Amino acid sequence: MKILMVCLGNICRSPLAEGILQHKTKNTNVFVDSAGTASYHIGKLPDIRSIEIANKYGIDLSNQRARQFSEKDYDNFDKIYAMDTHNYASIISISRNENDRNKVELILNKINPKSCDSVPDPYYGEGDGFQKVYDMLDKACDTIVSKL
Ligand code: 4NP
Repeated sequence: MKILMVCLGNICRSPLAEGILQHKTKNTNVFVDSAGTASYHIGKLPDIRSIEIANKYGIDLSNQRARQFSEKDYDNFDKIYAMDTHNYASIISISRNENDRNKVELILNKINPKSCDSVPDPYYGEGDGFQKVYDMLDKACDTIVSKL
């Protein structure tokens, strides 16, 4: 099973989602990666605030580098989780067929099916934004693991 986590920059939310799900699926045949729909941060490390919140839970994001989502990801992954409704629309906009589109889901729909909630973008925020994002993703990843 190959799972891709996608946000906008691939430096805040999806690196955390990747790290959390990898941690929960250690020693299984689940492969987890992440990407961003935008190109701004290609090649960069995750945001220091994501690295720090992950470290707090024993998860290391320091081997990650940002990359951009591409059409080829539809061939390489079984499941693609979008962090928010904008990312969802961007991912769908380069889908080629129904099979591609069936792979894409909003990650918070794992917690509240059909709610279409978005993981808030913490990039410009202050305070506990990254903790809130961590908590949401941790819960969503528990549901993903329980249904594997
Ligand atoms: P992410 O957060 O999509 O969770 O990685 C963002 C990172 C960078 C920007 C926006 C969101 N940016 O505008 O540069």
